[in-house]
Amino acid sequence: MYPDRPLSEALERISSRRSVKAMDLQEPGPSPESLNTILDSALRVPDHGKLGPWRLVIFQHDDRAAFGDILAARWRVLHPDANEAQLRFEQNRFMRAPVVIAVISERQAGHKIPEWEQILSAGAVCQNLLVAASLAGFAAQWLTEWYTYDAHIQSLFNIGEHEDIAGFVYLGSAEKRPDERARPDKHTRIQRWQQPR
Ligand SMILES: Cc1cc2nc3c(=O)[nH]c(=O)nc-3n(C[C@H](O)[C@H](O)[C@H](O)COP(=O)(O)O)c2cc1C
Repeated sequence: MYPDRPLSEALERISSRRSVKAMDLQEPGPSPESLNTILDSALRVPDHGKLGPWRLVIFQHDDRAAFGDILAARWRVLHPDANEAQLRFEQNRFMRAPVVIAVISERQAGHKIPEWEQILSAGAVCQNLLVAASLAGFAAQWLTEWYTYDAHIQSLFNIGEHEDIAGFVYLGSAEKRPDERARPDKHTRIQRWQQPR
């Protein structure tokens, strides 16, 4: 039999998972081994055509402040009137969490596998990151924010014509579980197939 048994604790964790706002994330982040496991789980996604239509860029330690300097400089170009507090916020953006992971959707254009399916696979990587982090005992949030869509920042990730940044997954620890949030009513989103008459 595969799988050989239900993992009720994992199901409970997934069905009650909440994102934790990046600003509420803190140390400790995952150990190198734990991060490696989270990354292995993240890439374990369905992938029509075995294209691996994604790539990840990891920010840890000093990378985060270095990238913050780039964000602040870009913000100053886009907003010449930016005040010191705003620039400081940009500088510290990636410092909100011990680990930040950029997920890039890297498609093969003109392939028999539609680009839409390749994009969905990258979305699955992001969600697997959130779920694996949660199962490994860490909190996380998937964000796009302004820099995902900024041409200069995209160029630093070598974003090509058939690529997009799917988002940045912030990973760390949280002091407390966030309150529940309003969720779409499942009865309006899930229905049984109705035979056409
Ligand atoms: C693709 C994507 C991009 C997102 N970008 C942002 C963002 O830029 N800012 C934000 O506050 N939330 C953003 N969110 C929402 C959060 O990741 C998250 O869904 C929200 O905090 C509630 O999460 P939960 O239902 O997992 O607890 C984004 C979600 C997705 C799927």
